[in-house]
Amino acid sequence: MAKARPHSERSSHRRRNLLLAVALLSAALLLPAATASAAVAVAAEGDGENRSRGAATQWATGKDEGELAAEREAVGVGSVVEDDFAGGFGSLDSMLQWAIGNSDPGRLKEEAADVQKLSEDELLKRRHEIKDLMEKLKMPSDADLMKIAIADLNNASISLEDRQRALQELLILVEPIDNANDLDKIGGLVPVIQDLNNANEEIRITSAWILGTASQNNALVQSQILGYGALARLVKMGYSTSAKEAAKAMYAISALIRNNVNGQEAFTSENGNAMLQHILGSNSVDVRLQKKAVFLITDLADFQLNSGSSGLAFLSERVFLKSVTDMLSKFDLDLQEKVLLAIRSLLKLPSTDATDLESCGLDSVLYRLGVQLEELPSEEQKEYAGEVDALRREVEMLFQQKLKRGTATAAL
Ligand SMILES: *[C@@H]1O[C@H](CO)[C@@H](O)[C@H](O)[C@H]1NC(C)=O
Ligand SMILES: *[C@@H]1O[C@H](CO)[C@@H](O)[C@H](O)[C@H]1NC(C)=O
Repeated sequence: MAKARPHSERSSHRRRNLLLAVALLSAALLLPAATASAAVAVAAEGDGENRSRGAATQWATGKDEGELAAEREAVGVGSVVEDDFAGGFGSLDSMLQWAIGNSDPGRLKEEAADVQKLSEDELLKRRHEIKDLMEKLKMPSDADLMKIAIADLNNASISLEDRQRALQELLILVEPIDNANDLDKIGGLVPVIQDLNNANEEIRITSAWILGTASQNNALVQSQILGYGALARLVKMGYSTSAKEAAKAMYAISALIRNNVNGQEAFTSENGNAMLQHILGSNSVDVRLQKKAVFLITDLADFQLNSGSSGLAFLSERVFLKSVTDMLSKFDLDLQEKVLLAIRSLLKLPSTDATDLESCGLDSVLYRLGVQLEELPSEEQKEYAGEVDALRREVEMLFQQKLKRGTATAAL
């Protein structure tokens, strides 16, 4: 799946650091306290969100400022402040410009004029003072923020809303691979996996989403999650009558077992193939979910081909091939294309017997699809239909070749 991940919360996190920087800047320049807080308040309004709780506590759900400060002390200096400070403002001037743009123009311009009278040395000194102040502030690092969210998840008396918010925060925080690698170390995987069993669907969905995001292209996290046995629960979620829940379970499963032999073994022993067949065979299932299932099948078959592994025997079972072949009769060009890709990969597997596909009626299904592609497409679909037809012919050819080879071997 493409990495279309939301960044808005990340940027508002960054924004909060900037707000604090302005407050500090004002303080360092010895502005009246009222001006400093006005600057922050005005900027906060411009952010379109409610910032009245203050910067750091925006992330905390069940804690007050004192607890947070104590935690920051315990953890030590984070690197976030320095990075954001350096990246956000190239110079004291640009920082000041930003402050001016986000606050009461009249008051701050006066102050700015005063600052510009300062000499180079004085400016440099101010700059160091600000840096020291910011270091003393010890903004929470991503690890701190993850710990806060995890503490909330482990708090049984937290409201459903706060639990969902803690999960949403984790979802964003586990995107960077370093954070995903830390998640288990700081005790985050267990509560997230437990929430796959939450009575609330949204909570279950977000938990599956976190597991998928954290384990994507990450062998370490894949094996940690598999080690906790989460796959069994995710396979069950794949049967959900909620298309949203089933789709998120499928996302997490795909991320967990992709390029991972142990994950694929676990998938087999949890009867993941039956879940896939259920999705393919049920008329009430959302077609987008069926596409995801077909995509996963292609991915698994390709992995078998490229790695020379043969751990997924179900891919070549006749009843499974029948489920896939039947999908070609659905009138959805995009789905049909994905199914053709899956069949092409399945055909290439040495374990797949072409006569099984013959008995599934692949021949006649491919023929009917050819007729459909010739007759049905509207003008704007013609080109796409042509591409799908080329793929259909390729599959037909591979199929016939494999059938002939099979017959030749049998005749010997
Ligand atoms: C912001 O917070 C104030 C005070 O807590 C509250 O009255 C107001 O409704 C909040 N605004 C939004 C947009 O959440
Ligand atoms: C658990 O959550 C409740 C409700 O938000 C809060 O009052 C309490 O302090 C929290 N407990 C801990 C240990 O954080």
